[in-house]
Amino acid sequence: MLILGIESSCDETAASVINGQGDKIVVLSNIVSSQIDIHKKYGGVVPEVAAREHVLHAIPVIEEALLQAGLTRKTAAKKLSAIAVTAGPGLITSLITGTETAKSLAFAWSLPLVSINHVEAHTYANFIGNPKIKFPALILTVSGGHTLLVLMTDHGAFKIIGETIDDAAGEAFDKAAKLMDIGYPGGPIVSKFASEFTQTPNKYPKIVLPRPLLHKPNFNFSFSGLKTALLYQLQKDKNWQKRIPEYCHEFEQAIVQTLVAKTIKAAEKYKIPTIMLAGGVSANSALRFALQEAVSKQLPKTQLILPDLKYTTDNAAMIATNGYFRFKNKQQTDYKSLKADPNLAF
Ligand code: KG4
Ligand code: ZN
Repeated sequence: MLILGIESSCDETAASVINGQGDKIVVLSNIVSSQIDIHKKYGGVVPEVAAREHVLHAIPVIEEALLQAGLTRKTAAKKLSAIAVTAGPGLITSLITGTETAKSLAFAWSLPLVSINHVEAHTYANFIGNPKIKFPALILTVSGGHTLLVLMTDHGAFKIIGETIDDAAGEAFDKAAKLMDIGYPGGPIVSKFASEFTQTPNKYPKIVLPRPLLHKPNFNFSFSGLKTALLYQLQKDKNWQKRIPEYCHEFEQAIVQTLVAKTIKAAEKYKIPTIMLAGGVSANSALRFALQEAVSKQLPKTQLILPDLKYTTDNAAMIATNGYFRFKNKQQTDYKSLKADPNLAF
């Protein structure tokens, strides 16, 4: 069956059509209109500007997604089975553009709607192209707003076993980049500088940052102190501008090592057959590499699934895929009951 997905929770307007058959998902189109270049000059997302951009791009992005999937405005009503849309969490003014657009289309085309939680949807990036996932799965969800370790026992059955007690991993990357004034969004920029680092030149002492909560007997994370530790080291170091790759490398390693160690510990404790990575930070190559290495060395029997890079940051293919599995479970709604909720709980 064909599902149209719509995403507008932050600064990406996205639409996608997927074809779901059993557990097999084929992405027919995946259109993302990013506002990064607009928000860059403000050093972060400006909600009012984001909402206006969503309004301008929602229909053209959806139309393109339909066209690439071989649908037209005329055939969409007949060929689609449902429309899935992000209801939260996110910026309320951004969310409303997506939900109201989806509601209008559902009304006009007499289609059911599926309300999607953006954080849950990131998990579903892993189901694209991977029809045989064994439950229970352990998901490390790392994005700009969330850092979670989640047990997934079935479709729609999630239990949080650990989370950040302050900043999210993506947020930490973004704040570190701001401290070093190297650009926005911070994750990909810090990661690029980090990859340029080879070794500490002899004339400088090695930079060492903390690995927060690494040895605590729980699955929680904390990244706010790490950012403060970075700030103090930058303030003490007269040469910090010459050492940005090294600072980025150490900062990235502090985050990656903590995330990987806790994920492995949780997988051991819960005897998990499958580990998945989700959220924007799952695009980070150091994290992907370190997790692959740790799983193959410490848990060789565990299946590790990494999402395709194009489905790591915000997109609508993950929304449509999540919508497909929810629709199969009869978790649909109609245009009257669907509501955007900026604080929608996972
Ligand atoms: O999932 P996402 O696109 O939006 C939210 O739902 O928050 O995640 C965005 C976050 C940003 O904080 C961004 O800096 C981070 O993901 N990110 C990365 C990388 N690409 C995006 N962090 C580290 N390395 C990357 N390559
Ligand atoms: Zn996201």
